[in-house]
Amino acid sequence: MKISIVGSGHVGLISGVCFAEKGHDVLCVDHDTDKLTKLRKGEVPFYEPGLPELLKKHVASKKVIFSERTEDAVEFGQAIFICVGTPSTERGKADMSYVERVARTVAENLKDYRLVIEKSTVPIKTSERIRRTISRYIKGDIQFDVASNPEFLREGSAIEDTLKPDRVVVGVDSAKGESLLREIYGGFDCPIVVTSVGSAELIKHASNSFLALKITYANWLARLCEVSGADVDEVVHGMGLDHRIGHHFFGAGIGYGGSCFPKDVDALAHISEELGLEAPMIRLISDTNKSQLENFYKKIESELWVLNDKTLAIWGLAFKPNTDDLREAPALRLINLLKQAGAKLRVHDPVAMPNTRKVHPDLYYANDPMDAVNGADALIVCTEWPQYKEADLAKVKAGLRVPLIFDGRNCIDRKRVAELGMTLFGIGKEPVRPEA
Ligand code: UGA
Repeated sequence: MKISIVGSGHVGLISGVCFAEKGHDVLCVDHDTDKLTKLRKGEVPFYEPGLPELLKKHVASKKVIFSERTEDAVEFGQAIFICVGTPSTERGKADMSYVERVARTVAENLKDYRLVIEKSTVPIKTSERIRRTISRYIKGDIQFDVASNPEFLREGSAIEDTLKPDRVVVGVDSAKGESLLREIYGGFDCPIVVTSVGSAELIKHASNSFLALKITYANWLARLCEVSGADVDEVVHGMGLDHRIGHHFFGAGIGYGGSCFPKDVDALAHISEELGLEAPMIRLISDTNKSQLENFYKKIESELWVLNDKTLAIWGLAFKPNTDDLREAPALRLINLLKQAGAKLRVHDPVAMPNTRKVHPDLYYANDPMDAVNGADALIVCTEWPQYKEADLAKVKAGLRVPLIFDGRNCIDRKRVAELGMTLFGIGKEPVRPEA
């Protein structure tokens, strides 16, 4: 089928190449012409494993083509996916101006039936607004449908998540729209859940907020473990063996980040409050998540006593491994706090250093993890990249001025730390200290 995608960011571009991989012909639209120049050459403007290869393949096969004109999207595809940004404004309200502009352009250029599908993460009732906007601006008596098809891909494993999803959710209320969506997803080996449009919109926000809640629960348990002497990994392992609870997304750390969880949790609370339903439980997720990082900072401050003029190494800047995305990254918040306290920072990340340099040009950007550690008064781990988990801790000890580690992701080998006589503070665990 011919499919148009408006907005060639993480969701749009990945959906586009994955639809092409399943045999569809795809037109990807974006208003950023510099980005389009790169994409036409098969270059991806952000880090996502597997995407450059797939993009190059489908640019070469011409199954993915590009345009800067939304009008072309209306002409090209029988299905038009809206994948533009919906940035947060105050207290979680989403800025819908990009979505509205797409809806108007679709209306003004509609000549035949089109299925308009919202894939951007949007507040409940957005499809109703899109439908109303198209009806208002449409010229003549032309049929169209509006559907919701939320995206569940994770950055860093986006291709795998998109090609082999757990489920595809389609919110649609016309038989024609449903049959087109079933055709689009015909090549995907997973359940297709058909719901009302409103339910599909809510499934997205509710899923992300639930996962954020589960992580926050693990983080709060970690705090309880710290004051009670229990070990959070043992606790969540014991709990997770109950199938009703499970182990996924139950790992304690320094808090969740990224472009989705923080925004979607706030948006769910905002939507609910706007509809007259208070959402204290949802608001608490976000507040508890913020305090998780602050608690980690206090641990560092309390152990190092004076931060001014101390040199600290930081491993990991991205909000999680396998991405160069810094949006709401806990490491960035920590860097701000440490800089304010006068610490000098030597930082490393396998892919996120160029993006960090744009925000913090004044840090020392290390050539490799060991270079970051050299001469530092402590090492702080913020992202659990595999190379940090596998690092030679004897070399780390030799490089550090003080053999002290703060592990914000519980990813460093504690047994080895103990053998080497180093000190380590993790999350929700007793510290490892050299034997007296
Ligand atoms: C998230 C969802 O997982 C996707 O299903 C969804 O499609 C996406 O948002 C979106 O709405 O577009 P993503 O933000 O890419 O995906 O990243 P996740 O892998 O979900 O991680 C989010 C944060 O939670 C990271 O900071 C990660 O370190 C943290 N996390 C995750 C934990 O602290 N503990 C865990 O056990 C798991």
